[in-house]
Amino acid sequence: MIRSVVKAAILRHGWEIWGSEDSFDGFFKPEKMVPLTLDSVRGILPRGGTILGTTSQGNPFRYPVRNAKGKIESQDYSQKVIDKARTMNLDGLIVIGGDGTLSIAYEFFQAGLPVIGVPKTIDKDLLATEITFGFDTALHTATDAIDKIHTTAESHDRVMVVELMGRNAGWIALEAGISGGADVILIPEIPFDIEKVCEKIQQRARNGRRFSIVVVAEAAASSGGTPLYRQRAEENLSGKLGGVGFVVGEMIQERTGVDTRVLVLGHLQRGGSPSPFDRLLGTRFGVAAVELASQERFGQMVALKCGKVEAVPIKDAIARQRLVDPEGEYVHAAKAIGISFGD
Ligand code: F6P
Repeated sequence: MIRSVVKAAILRHGWEIWGSEDSFDGFFKPEKMVPLTLDSVRGILPRGGTILGTTSQGNPFRYPVRNAKGKIESQDYSQKVIDKARTMNLDGLIVIGGDGTLSIAYEFFQAGLPVIGVPKTIDKDLLATEITFGFDTALHTATDAIDKIHTTAESHDRVMVVELMGRNAGWIALEAGISGGADVILIPEIPFDIEKVCEKIQQRARNGRRFSIVVVAEAAASSGGTPLYRQRAEENLSGKLGGVGFVVGEMIQERTGVDTRVLVLGHLQRGGSPSPFDRLLGTRFGVAAVELASQERFGQMVALKCGKVEAVPIKDAIARQRLVDPEGEYVHAAKAIGISFGD
């Protein structure tokens, strides 16, 4: 994405491009505002992550700073960002990220900065775009993990529980679960009943299939329950989900007596070389973002709609999360081939 922005901006328009390292930090830490040239982006296409670094704790409107007593408190650094953008005479500010980052981008747009948004998150949970780049690569990693888990589950006659990321959206679990041949998929959009999950495992055992694969999205919860947080949200930090796989695994072992193991795939889903689909999408989004900037269409985000790259207001993209429709076609297809959602 960064590569296509830099290349299109320089080759098409002859613009000068700067990158802010670690999110908006470059706007108030001079050493973190770096020039981006054709040389800076040479060879980065197969690299995962971002050459500019990132942080989920760098919101300039509520920037975490340690006070004299050593306690972390939030300070509003937004004016520093605005002042720096003006001193630099920025004609456009392309902001890449998920709903958190794009919400900050929207606040800066409202404050008068010429912002263009680009959706990037493995969660695929942004409304107004069919997909975000990063998702396809995570889906490959998660599917590959489920494929590998199958081998050991089958040899040992075990239930293997695989916990996947996705925050409040069940997309990674749903799509990797279907692609990897899971027997049970638990997602936040469909509250589960553990008895139904166990029923499915026992029914498979009665049919001679003495192993099962249960894919659990990190925010999945039982009917009447709530998602499990390892760390609750604090003032300027979003909560950290995780651990539901172990709870589900224990309940399964207790109720069915089948030897059960748990794998939390975690941040592996965020690493690795981007898939060709993500490279292509990142390239298309980057070029489209530069075009929007050249047309001065600020406050817009590039999005994929019916396979085409379009512009949508950032405001619409962050208004609501894009969640799995429990009555939708994906869930329907999964249920039709015998996958249980524990409902
Ligand atoms: O939003 C992307 C994501 O990977 C989520 O799927 C996950 O819940 C979260 O980020 C993990 O965040 P952190 O890297 O702060 O642990």
